[in-house]
Amino acid sequence: MPDLGVVYRLSVEDFFPGGLPYSEGRQIAVWAAAAGADALHVTAGHYRSLPSAQIVLPPMRFPDATFLDFAADVKRHVGVPVIAVGRLGDPATAAEAVASGKADFIALGRTLVAEPQWVDKVRRGAPIRRCLACNTCINEMRGGARIGCVVNGTAGRESLFAGRRGPRGERIAVLGAGPAGLTYASLVGEDNSVTVFERKAQAGGAFRYAGKAPMFQDVETDETSLARYIRDMVAACEANGVEFRYATDPTVVPELLAPFDRIVLATGAEYRFGSGPLVEWLLDRSIARAPGIARLFAWPALRDWLYYRARRGTAERFAHLLQPGRRVTVIGDAARAGKSKQAIASAFEAALLDQ
Ligand SMILES: Cc1cc2nc3c(=O)[nH]c(=O)nc-3n(C[C@H](O)[C@H](O)[C@H](O)COP(=O)(O)O)c2cc1C
Ligand code: SF4
Repeated sequence: MPDLGVVYRLSVEDFFPGGLPYSEGRQIAVWAAAAGADALHVTAGHYRSLPSAQIVLPPMRFPDATFLDFAADVKRHVGVPVIAVGRLGDPATAAEAVASGKADFIALGRTLVAEPQWVDKVRRGAPIRRCLACNTCINEMRGGARIGCVVNGTAGRESLFAGRRGPRGERIAVLGAGPAGLTYASLVGEDNSVTVFERKAQAGGAFRYAGKAPMFQDVETDETSLARYIRDMVAACEANGVEFRYATDPTVVPELLAPFDRIVLATGAEYRFGSGPLVEWLLDRSIARAPGIARLFAWPALRDWLYYRARRGTAERFAHLLQPGRRVTVIGDAARAGKSKQAIASAFEAALLDQ
């Protein structure tokens, strides 16, 4: 292809006995460059990789910049630009990958599914919506579904949101700083005056406990991935002028809500049968991660029961907040206990579609 730039993408290590070892992967990269490839895009992994095929899209337990050292080594052996890929969505990690000379370019996969505005936001120094590396996007696609994302409720249905606008010029109280409340506040913060009330001393809600469970979606959990997401969502809210009031429960002091035009209930779900304290106790002490118990917590039937049947939405507890002239919007698990993807998607719908 003399008139076209050719980027040759290759996996340089298969991670299974009998598969391609790195020494051979690097040789292929060298041959490809010698044969005229204009750039090399270096990844790793194979559908037969061990311990699992998930490594092709390194899930949250894997470190940032998972394959960068492969790219750096290939770069030492070729004279064409090298593109690195794989968990490079942390802006500092991405910048360092290029600044250190390990790669000439970085490629982003899941990061751009979670945050299509990544390039623009990073250029402006604005906080980003982090990909969790939960692999729900790819796992659902492999199951035949269209693409979707746990943290980006518009992914795969962008046209539904195109040209639509949510509330403007309102004073909005969001009750609950879990993933749904933070998502809603981050999206409406710029065009409204928004206060988030959180009963606990810190943000995170259900994600603080999800981080302590053995599995998140279909991957092994890593608490820092969820904590980093929460931290940047809070930062995104604050950058859009959202005020946070922690350790404050307006249902106990309803006067706090008097100045607001709209109350958004993002109060999550509660466990039935008084089992909430026990589940939180198990998670807080990392007992759910202990061998044996972790297997029990990873059992699909138990996980489904914990998500859907053992919990119920809390919205009805707040019926007394209904007042003439005040709008009440219910999002996330507060409406119906379920999984994070649906909870966050409902926050996008409430924030961006006409009310
Ligand atoms: C939804 C989705 C589809 C993908 N499809 C392909 C594909 O067809 N071929 C391929 O080589 N890699 C594919 N990838 C892998 C990405 O190119 C990339 O290597 C991987 O996601 C790791 O980068 P990331 O950590 O930035 O997501 C896909 C990734 C995602 C999220
Ligand atoms: S579904 Fe999970 S892995 Fe995929 S882009 Fe969204 S947050 Fe990232």
